[in-house]
Amino acid sequence: MDINFITRRIQRLINTIFFCFVFYFLSLQQTTPYAHLIGDVKQGEYVFTVAGCQSCHTEKPAATGAGGVEIRTPFGSFYTPNITPHPIFGIGLWSRDQFADALRYGKNSRVGSFFPSFPYTSYTKMSDQDIISLYTYIMTLPKIAQENKSHELDFPFSWRFSSNFWRLLFFQPGTYQYNQNSDEVWNRGAYLVQAIGHCAECHSPRNFLGKIVNDMTLAGNPKDYDGAVVPNVTPDSETGIGLWKEGDIVALLKFGTLPNGDVVGGKMMEFVMNASSKLSDKDLQAIALYLKSLPPVYNPEAIATKPEF
Ligand code: HEC
Ligand code: HEC
Repeated sequence: MDINFITRRIQRLINTIFFCFVFYFLSLQQTTPYAHLIGDVKQGEYVFTVAGCQSCHTEKPAATGAGGVEIRTPFGSFYTPNITPHPIFGIGLWSRDQFADALRYGKNSRVGSFFPSFPYTSYTKMSDQDIISLYTYIMTLPKIAQENKSHELDFPFSWRFSSNFWRLLFFQPGTYQYNQNSDEVWNRGAYLVQAIGHCAECHSPRNFLGKIVNDMTLAGNPKDYDGAVVPNVTPDSETGIGLWKEGDIVALLKFGTLPNGDVVGGKMMEFVMNASSKLSDKDLQAIALYLKSLPPVYNPEAIATKPEF
């Protein structure tokens, strides 16, 4: 074998290795849009609380994130899974991408497709930074060895694959898009209502397959899964919160008090205690400003509380 042949061989091998590396790094960049982000534990803890992850995934107060909370729907009962970093029972072995995919796309390479009882339909709008901070915070939680309870669903929903159809039919993934025509406070409010607070998940009517009726978003749900009326929170003055002042909205989210002197009840009281009362005053004001700026929607079937002067 002449020496030239060997050098050419080696040269080719080096080229191949080089291209493999380039390819590898390019593909890394494609699949991990989060690679450059550094999670902020404090911010992650804040989002974990105010977005309701903590309350929906915590049945026993001493076992934060261990799941087991029952969510009743017309399709059957869902039980929230363990999202502590336990490697077997929780999500300890999930990569940042797999976690982010769950929130952004409602599916990932570990589980497949998720049921929308996990409100990823709102969380999809979260910023990359908030998602990565959430992940970083969750990974600091105590690992809890609690096994997941299986959902008790009616056919065909008992078949996880069926959630694919729902996702494909009704779900639009995508981060919150900053509205250049409005200021920072308005955009923060919109982000908090649409992505973090997932207010529309409860405050909007749904069709028979559980899809939110688009042009009635936030206009109230005459019949929630538990039979409750969830009021219209658009600023319609007859049926919504049009006569509420911004301060009334802040007081409700912070203390659960209504502008007629009453206290809010049901699932909203839980939401206030576990989530919205933990929002910063700045964030509460942003939410109030945003809600008051929405186009009013008339919905006589889900009338809001009238303030008393
Ligand atoms: C309304 C209740 C509710 C809220 C609020 C909620 N989740 Fe969940 N979550 C669920 C349910 C139910 C499932 C199971 C869905 C399924 O089996 O497809 C789930 C599944 C998950 C999973 C997948 C775990 C696994 O092992 O499959 C992750 C991760 C998760 N949630 C994280 C979060 C985070 C982070 C938040 C807050 C931003 C959050 N959840 C808020 C109800 C909720
Ligand atoms: C888990 C479901 C749920 C979520 C999430 C939720 N709400 Fe509510 N909300 C309710 C229910 C149910 C009521 C009615 C409570 C009652 O009957 O006293 C209510 C009541 C209210 C009221 C009082 C309206 C009135 O006329 O009495 C306001 C305002 C409100 N919610 C705003 C919000 C905002 C803003 C968000 C998001 C940051 C939000 N809610 C998230 C379920 C929810």
